[in-house]
Amino acid sequence: MLDIVTLGDEVLRQKAAVVGDIDGSIAKLAENMIRTMQEAPGIGLAAPQVGVLKRMFVCQIEGDKPRVFINPEIIGTSEERGVFEEGCLSIPGIYADVLRPDEISIQAWNERGRPFTLNAGGLLARVIQHEYDHLQGVLFLDHLNQKKSERLEKQYYKSLRA
Ligand code: NI
Repeated sequence: MLDIVTLGDEVLRQKAAVVGDIDGSIAKLAENMIRTMQEAPGIGLAAPQVGVLKRMFVCQIEGDKPRVFINPEIIGTSEERGVFEEGCLSIPGIYADVLRPDEISIQAWNERGRPFTLNAGGLLARVIQHEYDHLQGVLFLDHLNQKKSERLEKQYYKSLRA
C-alpha cells in the first residue's frame, strides 16, 4: 500500500513527466497503485497522488476491471457536457459538482507497454478526466468558481483540525 499525499503537498501541483521505458518497475508501480486505490477505497488514482511525478494513472469503476493509463493523451471530447459530483482521495471528505464533457477518447499505453485507444462515457469518462487532470497538477476544485473552491479548501483544512 502506497501513501496518498493530500491537499497542501506541492507534488499535487506539479506537472508529471512522460514515462520513458514501460519496464518492470512501471508495471510494479501500476500494480501497487491499483492495490492502493482499491484499499482506499477509490475509483481512480494518479501517480502524483502517491508522490511520483510520472504521467500515469489507474482507475476501476464498479463492474469493470482495473485499467492502467501510461502517457495518456485525451484526443477527443464530446460537445455534450454534464455535471457530476466528484471527490478525490487527496482531498478526503470534500465533494462538489463538476462540469465536464460526457464522453472522451483517450490514447495511452498499458502496463505491458501495449498502446490502446479507448472511447469512454459515463462514470469511466468522468474518472479518466479527473485523473488526467492530476498529471497537469490540476485538482477538481480548480473547475469550480474561485469562491466555491476557496470555501471547500477552507472546509477541508478545518476538517483536519477537528
Ligand atoms: Ni483526485
